[in-house]
Amino acid sequence: MKVLVTGHQGYLGTVMVPLLNAAGHDVVGLDNGYFADCVLGIAPTEPPCLAVDLRDVTVDQLRGFDAVVHLAALSNDPLGALAPDITYDVNHHASVRLAVLAKEAGVRRFLYASTCSVYGAAGTDLVSEDAELHPITPYAISKVRVEADVAALADADFVPVFLRNATAFGFSPRLRADIVLNNLVGHAVLTGVVRVMSDGTPWRPLVHAQDIARAFETCLTAPAEIVSCRAYNVGAEDNNVTVAEIAQTVVDTVPGSTLLITGETGSDPRSYRVDFSRARAELDFEATWSVADGAAELYEAYLANGLNSNDFDESFTRLKRLEWLTAQGILDETMRRVSAIA
Ligand SMILES: NC(=O)c1ccc[n+]([C@@H]2O[C@H](COP(=O)([O-])OP(=O)(O)OC[C@H]3O[C@@H](n4cnc5c(N)ncnc54)[C@H](O)[C@@H]3O)[C@@H](O)[C@H]2O)c1
Repeated sequence: MKVLVTGHQGYLGTVMVPLLNAAGHDVVGLDNGYFADCVLGIAPTEPPCLAVDLRDVTVDQLRGFDAVVHLAALSNDPLGALAPDITYDVNHHASVRLAVLAKEAGVRRFLYASTCSVYGAAGTDLVSEDAELHPITPYAISKVRVEADVAALADADFVPVFLRNATAFGFSPRLRADIVLNNLVGHAVLTGVVRVMSDGTPWRPLVHAQDIARAFETCLTAPAEIVSCRAYNVGAEDNNVTVAEIAQTVVDTVPGSTLLITGETGSDPRSYRVDFSRARAELDFEATWSVADGAAELYEAYLANGLNSNDFDESFTRLKRLEWLTAQGILDETMRRVSAIA
């Protein structure tokens, strides 16, 4: 299939593109390059790419693709809280516009990177795709709105699928330090302390970036009559863990590290345990990476590639990186690229 992957220079896109290529797909990327040079280790091979802002994409640029995998977003809750208007602009309006134009261009399948954050503060019962949604942040609210608006476009020739990913972990050459496991392993390596800035009780479902990439690949070719307009939680029940359990896994992985649970009341009320049985039953999809294997992979990758504090805190932390690009005048006040990185 000829596939356009938006956000291909992000954390997940950088893992997904080689996996889609290996599965025989012909991939073109689309990205405005917020993190293009934020690489740990060997730089990835770049696919052909549309270097445009998602908000400016045209119908002509979308012609000839069989599928769009839509990852591009201001991706995570703190970022959305910082700039809610821009988050709604990019994550909601530009995403729906992309789907409308893709349909007009004759694209037949549209895979959307949604999130388990749509469940919000859901307690301890397992939430399935049919659970009531309680998005808390502009980021999560925008994901819910896109699912609803894009579902309304579905017909026999346009098949949208919504992949509600758990919080990702694992090595990607375009690393992220602002997701829980990657963050805690990084701090353990750099400081020797695994510091949990809460009481550690919130539930977080986790999933490896490679498993997310496989889920998308599965949905590209799954029968339309099964997946059209369907939401799928992407993850594994065994990886429904508390933040304290994640931290203990990191202590067990990084020699000499110690655990510090500060007990603060965090600003993030999200807590949810997720049911992943629909993807298993309908797609035969199973996420295979455990949290312990991911922690070990990250530990080895951080050591092998000489992770340092500056990169960890700045280049690999989305909020800091976007603040830096804005301070340098590389992004304008709407987070559009106005100049190149020197
Ligand atoms: N990483 C996770 O834990 C996780 C979990 C659930 C869902 N998701 C979703 O998966 C998708 C990818 O996540 P990620 O972790 O790779 O995010 P990321 O922030 O690492 O990458 C996003 C990419 O989108 C690009 N982008 C952002 N705004 C753009 C714009 N206006 N025009 C063009 N390109 C733009 C960025 O340059 C970046 O390369 C996102 O939609 C995210 O919400 C991620």
